[in-house]
Amino acid sequence: MVELRHEQRTMLWTLAMHAHDAAAERPILGDRYAADLLARVEDPPDLGVSLGGNTPLICARAKLIDDAARTWLARHDEAVVLHLGCGLDSRVLRLDPGPGVQWFDVDQEPVIDLRRRLYASEPSTTVAGDVTDPSLYDRFPAELPRLVIAEGLLMYLDPAGVAAVVDHALTPGSTLVADTVAPWVTWVAGLQPAMRAADAGFRSSSVDLARVAPHLVDELSLVDATATRTSGLTSTAVRVFALLPGGRDAMVLQTYER
Ligand SMILES: C[S@@+](CC[C@H](N)C(=O)[O-])C[C@H]1O[C@@H](n2cnc3c(N)ncnc32)[C@H](O)[C@@H]1O
Repeated sequence: MVELRHEQRTMLWTLAMHAHDAAAERPILGDRYAADLLARVEDPPDLGVSLGGNTPLICARAKLIDDAARTWLARHDEAVVLHLGCGLDSRVLRLDPGPGVQWFDVDQEPVIDLRRRLYASEPSTTVAGDVTDPSLYDRFPAELPRLVIAEGLLMYLDPAGVAAVVDHALTPGSTLVADTVAPWVTWVAGLQPAMRAADAGFRSSSVDLARVAPHLVDELSLVDATATRTSGLTSTAVRVFALLPGGRDAMVLQTYER
């Protein structure tokens, strides 16, 4: 059994949310691999009401990142994708990139160990390492156009870790697609019972990313994206939340180019 510690456990939450969404009548993401992967995890998480309530937001985030990556891949036949902090996410299967694309799924060692056990055949090259370690990036081809995806990752790094990712993952001409949270969310996330139980927490925000990131080319509110992809009470509640000070920018998806 692989022991997952601290923020490593959080990737089981996103996997469980993907599975839950996929079983809905009108899924937001429709990740058809998540339920099967989750069924083979030894200690699947119980999302409960508090974590489970984030399912539409997390699935809207994944959907927007899938769309952004698909658009980028349509313009780059020969390319490298670094999927940093990949967890057990099946993005490479969902996007099914062409033969000229070298896709690297990168995460900490226990997560990559589990990933290698759960995926029947390797749909990508998996790399175990710390994304803040500069030497990690020697393992990827530097000469091809590069897309770096960091989903649900940067907030778990401290500001120096965010700077290290930006400095070392992004070769000239690269594109970074990453979600980031408002400073107040870093604080509120620490109150979440599941986060406390996992002894995990957010350590940086959009301010830290903006300080070190290259040229911002796109920004989308993931709160707005959730409102438009849900209906009924959920959508109304998210729309009301978006009107509160700091609501719309609580979590944003940003695209940067170097
Ligand atoms: C919230 S999960 C997101 C997983 C996946 N991107 C998804 O959306 O399902 C955060 C992931 O970041 C990984 N992570 C956190 N800090 C890391 C680091 N320093 N190096 C590599 N991976 C890291 C964790 O192990 C975990 O798998």
